[in-house]
Amino acid sequence: MAFETLLTEEQIAERVKEIGQEISADYAGRTVHLICVLKGAYTFLADLARAMSVPVTIDFLAVSSYGKGKTSSGEVQLTKDLDVSLSGRDVIVVEDIADTGITLSYLLAMLESRQPKSLKVAAFLSKPSRREVEVPVDYVGFEVPDRFVVGYGLDDDQRYRELPYVAVVVD
Ligand code: IMP
Ligand code: MG
Repeated sequence: MAFETLLTEEQIAERVKEIGQEISADYAGRTVHLICVLKGAYTFLADLARAMSVPVTIDFLAVSSYGKGKTSSGEVQLTKDLDVSLSGRDVIVVEDIADTGITLSYLLAMLESRQPKSLKVAAFLSKPSRREVEVPVDYVGFEVPDRFVVGYGLDDDQRYRELPYVAVVVD
């Protein structure tokens, strides 16, 4: 098993810092409620929150797309719900990657119905060429080509989440 590095630790750190500053400027004077989409977004959320200068609160949810493997089946299931209400909060959903867009569009509809004050999306990665559902991604770390990537929270069947860089697995 070998890895071909796509994004280095340094590139990631620099970009996440930029996004943290951009969000902090956009939300000046407000508290941002960050929602971590488990599991893949945990690394991005941890670094992003520390790169922000506005106060944050954090909550977690988990979703699974039916079936495992490298493509989502189109059916999304909420497997862990949030702990607190979104009412009146400035919410940013933090995702690892926007691929087909199916997961994010499901989440946005579900979260919007809980009447947050505002709702935006931050995705560490985006694969625009794979999009099947139009979904607004307000903050994007990096656009990546149509390759299956791992690391920085992203897994291949639960492996490689701990890699500090983003890589393509080459056998
Ligand atoms: P979507 O619903 O197709 O946008 O897929 C979203 C989910 O699929 C992401 O949150 C990831 O968990 C997973 N996923 C999509 N592409 C990749 C990849 O290249 N590596 C690891 N996971 C991926
Ligand atoms: Mg995910």
